[in-house]
Amino acid sequence: MNIALVLLAAGKGTRMNSDLPKVLHQIAGAPMLAHALRTGQVLEPARTVVVAGHEARMVAAATAEIDEDATVVLQEEQLGTAHAVDQARTALEGFDGDVVVLYGDTPFIRDETLERMIAARCSHDLVILGFEAADPKRYGRLMMDGESLERIVEFKDATEEERKVTFCNSGLVACDRATLFALIAAVGNDNAAGEFYLTDIVAIARARGLKVTAVACDESETLGINSRAELAQAEAVFQANARAELLDLGVTLTAPDTVFLSYDTVIGRDAEIEPNVVFGPGVTVESGARIRAFSHLEGCHVSRGAIVGPYARLRPGAELAENVHVGNFVEIKNATLDEGAKANHLTYIGDASVGPRTNIGAGTITCNYDGVFKHRTEIGADVFIGSDTMLVAPVKIGNRAMTATGAVITRDVEADALAIARVKQENKPGRASKLFDMLLARKAREKQ
Ligand code: UD1
Ligand code: MG
Repeated sequence: MNIALVLLAAGKGTRMNSDLPKVLHQIAGAPMLAHALRTGQVLEPARTVVVAGHEARMVAAATAEIDEDATVVLQEEQLGTAHAVDQARTALEGFDGDVVVLYGDTPFIRDETLERMIAARCSHDLVILGFEAADPKRYGRLMMDGESLERIVEFKDATEEERKVTFCNSGLVACDRATLFALIAAVGNDNAAGEFYLTDIVAIARARGLKVTAVACDESETLGINSRAELAQAEAVFQANARAELLDLGVTLTAPDTVFLSYDTVIGRDAEIEPNVVFGPGVTVESGARIRAFSHLEGCHVSRGAIVGPYARLRPGAELAENVHVGNFVEIKNATLDEGAKANHLTYIGDASVGPRTNIGAGTITCNYDGVFKHRTEIGADVFIGSDTMLVAPVKIGNRAMTATGAVITRDVEADALAIARVKQENKPGRASKLFDMLLARKAREKQ
């Protein structure tokens, strides 16, 4: 079946208490909007329409980044969920197929649930997604008559009796495009909130003799986000699921609850992740790599057999080839380390390439920034960079070259050369004890 997604994202999200529209708040490094849009992808939608309102320009820009084919329509005033869906009417004019309505702030609907909604559409004109609520709070209540959904009553309009119903509305709808917009056209706003409720299409459909049903999903999928507390809860749910998935895939997580993942983290089988590791967006770790405790990774790739940390930081553009070792208090940014290269202690490597088997001594810094421009450092194969070397970029170090400890390298070093660039040492016999005597005498005078 042809599917068009309509994603509602016009609400202000007052309870977020934020300048940022609610759907742009992040879960696992991606805006809620991206999670919600990804939810619908299992249906291989032919069209996607995002209904924006509050801070629409920001929402439109974010949508374009996530899915450049999505259409963004503006709901100038937030007059209710039916009015919101109606904003997609023109964009979907002539579309032959089903519309699935999703909420931008409900990012955890499972693929299988959407597939069940579409399956139920074969025998019903209109399908609503419901769930059994442990505490139904202010959700709309689904009034069933056997298989048939008769109407939805919003909490504000419900009687005491109706409020006792625990089967609730998630907000998701599946319906043929032409039928849906015909039903929406008949929705009024004569209710407790003075809003055009999308939920009213159920009773209208029933009055027109259409078949309506509700498919049930697990309550955890319909977790909506309205406040920072719920955002934190959603993050926790995401993390718990992502960790469980990795464990299933054969990744070792020594202390899963202390590992934080991004929406797009990829870790291969038999990789080992020690406690307290944070993965920002864009990280791939190959099979058998080991990420040791307290490391922070984003936008980087770690190959098979590499060891990172403890206490390492890999920033965007860090590419570690096989068997590379990056140790404690080492920061790598926009740099490639070829097979078997090592940087084990207290080092910054930025805007650089490091050849295979090269050893970077403790305290080495690529001085890549002159205050205005960034420059590259190119280090060849089998090089030995002595401890505390400053590599003032742009600079190149040839294969099998060495730099002496404490060198400040400002010129290229050719292959096989030893570069010594530091003040020559001078020892002055007896001078130290004279200096001590002088200082101790001064201390004694000052005490008097
Ligand atoms: C809605 C449902 C309720 C359901 C609940 C599930 C209606 C009338 N009620 O209530 O039955 O149990 O969701 O969470 O549909 N939005 C717009 N434009 C608007 C109004 C809302 O884009 O004019 C968007 C919001 O940004 C949000 C979604 O629609 O993503 C739901 O709106 P919200 O105000 O949260 O509806 P609820 O009162 O929670
Ligand atoms: Mg809501």
